[in-house]
Amino acid sequence: MIIRNYRVTDETGWVRCRTLAFLQTAYFDNVLNKKEHYQNPAIELVAELDGQIVGLIDVEFEKEERTVCSRGEGLGGMIWHIAVHPDFSRRGIGQQLLYAAETIAKEMNINRFEAWTRDDLWVQKWYEKMKFKMVDSYYHVYFEGSEMKHKIQSNIPNLYLVNTFTHYVGNDIDQFKSNNRVHKCVCFERSF
Ligand SMILES: CC(C)(COP(=O)(O)OP(=O)(O)OC[C@H]1O[C@@H](n2cnc3c(N)ncnc32)[C@H](O)[C@@H]1OP(=O)(O)O)[C@@H](O)C(=O)NCCC(=O)NCCS
Repeated sequence: MIIRNYRVTDETGWVRCRTLAFLQTAYFDNVLNKKEHYQNPAIELVAELDGQIVGLIDVEFEKEERTVCSRGEGLGGMIWHIAVHPDFSRRGIGQQLLYAAETIAKEMNINRFEAWTRDDLWVQKWYEKMKFKMVDSYYHVYFEGSEMKHKIQSNIPNLYLVNTFTHYVGNDIDQFKSNNRVHKCVCFERSF
């Protein structure tokens, strides 16, 4: 297994690896059909085994404080994507990708990584194992069909909402407890 920089020709393998990895998480329907690109410089690494992309990490990093990260001081890096193909999980690939990205980040004078994830306890445990600390959270609330009744409606004539995805940053999450999908979105941070 080698860890190397992402190349344009990796895109199909990158998309497949990310899709399969996220399928087993609360982000199961957050499917991309092409690789994300960033406004700022980014560390974009893949893990390759026998010609297959089995892992990936993308970290966009700041040239100016607070232009990418949501908190903290100094220049930070945001982990937008980290994923390991499920057939190759628990072999240390995620950890190696993270450490490789961290080595590069330190050379760029980045002082920390920030990452957001949902309420998959095993993913949160992985971040904790990697010495990240949970520092912030809010909620992702989905409204589907009748869940929207009398709560969320369109004010455009003849336009009807069918599904809605919202961010809730208040303290009364219980009001949405009958909703089918409510996720706590958690911020992890690791300083170098
Ligand atoms: C989180 C992730 C990157 C870890 O990669 P990995 O190479 O499998 O993990 P590592 O080998 O570095 O670390 C292994 C540890 O991760 C956790 N872990 C990984 N896969 C797991 C699974 N399927 N079930 C439970 N724990 C798991 C365990 O703590 C495990 O330690 P253990 O085997 O001693 O119990 C990978 O599982 C993944 O792609 N997850 C889905 C995508 C995601 O949620 N990304 C982060 C949000 S952006």
